[in-house]
Amino acid sequence: KKTALIMAGGRGERFWPKSRKDLPKQFLSLTDDGRTMIQHTVERILPIVEMEDIYIATNKDYKALVMKQLPGIPEENILCEPMSRNTAPCIGLGAVHITKKYEDATMMVLPSDHLIKYNSMFIATLKDACAIAEKGENLVTIGITPDYPETGYGYIKFNSDSLEDHAYAVDRFVEKPSLEVAKEYLATEEYLWNSGMFVWKTSTILKNIEIYMPDTYKGLMTIRDSVGTSEEGSVLEKEFAAFESESIDYGIMEKAENIYILPGSFGWDDVGSWLAVGRIRKSNEYGNVVHGNIITIDSSNCIIEGSKKLIAAVGIEDMIIVDTDDATLICSKDHAGDIKKVIENLKICN
Ligand code: GDD
Ligand code: MG
Repeated sequence: KKTALIMAGGRGERFWPKSRKDLPKQFLSLTDDGRTMIQHTVERILPIVEMEDIYIATNKDYKALVMKQLPGIPEENILCEPMSRNTAPCIGLGAVHITKKYEDATMMVLPSDHLIKYNSMFIATLKDACAIAEKGENLVTIGITPDYPETGYGYIKFNSDSLEDHAYAVDRFVEKPSLEVAKEYLATEEYLWNSGMFVWKTSTILKNIEIYMPDTYKGLMTIRDSVGTSEEGSVLEKEFAAFESESIDYGIMEKAENIYILPGSFGWDDVGSWLAVGRIRKSNEYGNVVHGNIITIDSSNCIIEGSKKLIAAVGIEDMIIVDTDDATLICSKDHAGDIKKVIENLKICN
């Protein structure tokens, strides 16, 4: 049985001020078609998994948003985390719920805030990944050929002699290396980026959590026993609070064995900053990507997002301007990666 867990509990801080604590990136529309990132994520996988087998793991604060944006997902498939504990507990919780329905199932784990251009190629890769996951106790990930030394991604060294069924055996998984190290990896051409999408059987991932994160495993089993009982809410609250905050990448993938990677080329974009919007949306003849009520005069290569107010840009270039009801961002394009710092500052001020 093929199932999917969509992870939708992230905060999307690099999209401030449009992405906010109460409306993070995955619930925003950053494309011209008006569909939100999470709606795209669900629609994309419908050729391979049924709606009733799609699970959404998110923070309890976002449950109403998920229900509103994805009315086709059964309410019991929306798994609400009482607090943020990063992706390892989120994936464990998903596996526990899926095994309540199916004894063992194939589980595709997908981020909710990426874009994919060529969907039929993506589905083909995902099918190949499922086949490898179903064949044994394998952890399968989808890799992307790197084109610059990004330090916000995981890097995967694959064994180039091991090609079988479109997949390579993985020698090493390194999450978020330093810039120096990322440059080295890029030069060797032996590494792929981790796309953050994984496929495995529920039994396989639970076994790996038991080995590498035994305390989390114990808590997950306690949660499993409580599902469907009157204690479910209080057990989840208590066990989740005790979980160590850990990503699946550091917690499992860097340590585990039996990892396979399938190189994917389907126009992947993890939409990491406002610059991505410049790539995704149509630009006008001066290279401006504008959305809202905007006038540009003698301006070029800008990204401008308005809300209600008219925005007039005169004689500027390479700028990002994002206006919302209560905050306005004015940022030069080469500082797009620093927008997170605004939030750090706001946290300190508050
Ligand atoms: N439910 C839930 N709970 N979801 C979460 C949580 C959580 O506590 N934390 C993050 N997520 C969701 C995010 O919304 C996103 O869809 C996905 O999980 C991945 O989390 P990110 O926070 O975006 O991870 P990352 O970008 O730092 O790194 C991951 O993705 C990269 C590719 O985009 C890693 O897997 C890297 O290795 C990978 O290269
Ligand atoms: Mg991310």
